[in-house]
Amino acid sequence: MRHIDPATIHHSESHRYLLAGVAPRPIAFVGTVDGEGRPNLSPFSFFNAFGANPPVVAFSPANRGSDGTQKHTYFNIRATGEFTVSVVSYSMVEQVSLASGDFPEGVDEFIKAGFMKLPSHKIKPFGVAESPMVMECRLLHYVELGNGPASGNLMIGEVVMFHIKESAFEGTYLNAERLDLVARMGGPLYCRASGPAVFSLAKPTHPGIGFDALPDHLRTSTVLTGNDLAKFAGVKSYPEIAAVRDFWTGLLAPEDAAAPGAADALGAASAPDAFDIELRVGAADRALAMLAARIRTGAAAVSLRDELHRVAQAYLRSGNVERAWQCVLAEEGLA
Ligand SMILES: Cc1cc2nc3c(=O)[nH]c(=O)nc-3n(C[C@H](O)[C@H](O)[C@H](O)COP(=O)(O)O)c2cc1C
Repeated sequence: MRHIDPATIHHSESHRYLLAGVAPRPIAFVGTVDGEGRPNLSPFSFFNAFGANPPVVAFSPANRGSDGTQKHTYFNIRATGEFTVSVVSYSMVEQVSLASGDFPEGVDEFIKAGFMKLPSHKIKPFGVAESPMVMECRLLHYVELGNGPASGNLMIGEVVMFHIKESAFEGTYLNAERLDLVARMGGPLYCRASGPAVFSLAKPTHPGIGFDALPDHLRTSTVLTGNDLAKFAGVKSYPEIAAVRDFWTGLLAPEDAAAPGAADALGAASAPDAFDIELRVGAADRALAMLAARIRTGAAAVSLRDELHRVAQAYLRSGNVERAWQCVLAEEGLA
């Protein structure tokens, strides 16, 4: 691990770490007007939302890295106390990048970058009509975070009006695929928040038992990952060993050789690759049946514990945490 004290490096190096490490960052496409009412439009990715009651967003137009001067967006908000934030979809990203050019004061980037102006209801600055969501904001506070080049200026605004495209909605919720937002990362990198990049993770409905309650052989497993262990640690209570014992007793009961699947499982028990193949295709039930067949015939491998962990992992990945627990507690269940 490298330990880096920002006081000992150039601000451009800190900037690099922040851009790449605090990522992906949403992009605020900020519309303002200057004291003479001339529109300005620029993107800012040091941006986020900070509260819902009232709804608050903040972003940071930094002092220019070259000469420490402040950007037009900053001066305009100081002058008027108003700005719009339009969110950025993939379909807009090249134009957004174009708008970030260092145009002279008074130049209208809506025109330069080819965007349509969406009139606001409560403030003067325009939103971007192509954006799926535009927020009208009134400045609540601003905080100058330094005074040298690249130091930030936090502009905190209350959202006083939302404009959201009908097509972005699915019922009362906004749909990620329909929004198709992009985010900024380090250097020239962006990412797109749709398709396979998006996954869902249910909110915990109760406090879990925690990592400290997990048996040592789980915590030191060379098979299970931190994400796997978190699923074990997220259960409401430690599994009842009696129920685990019942499960294993049932699983290891002498099998009717005529039953469909029994001969296959026993046959496969002698084919070492078959177990791996079942796991690779996520067939946890068949992999477990193979392990059970091996245990029944006394042919269990030295690495039985690892194999049980691998089957448990397949169950976890299919969402069956209860069965995963039964797998990893086999030793207790068989004792
Ligand atoms: C995607 C993207 C994100 C950006 N984020 C920031 C930012 O968070 N802060 C900043 O000062 N400049 C940022 N910039 C650069 C500004 O957009 C650029 O300096 C712009 O010219 C400022 O315009 P203005 O002087 O009209 O306000 C970003 C540029 C792009 C393309």
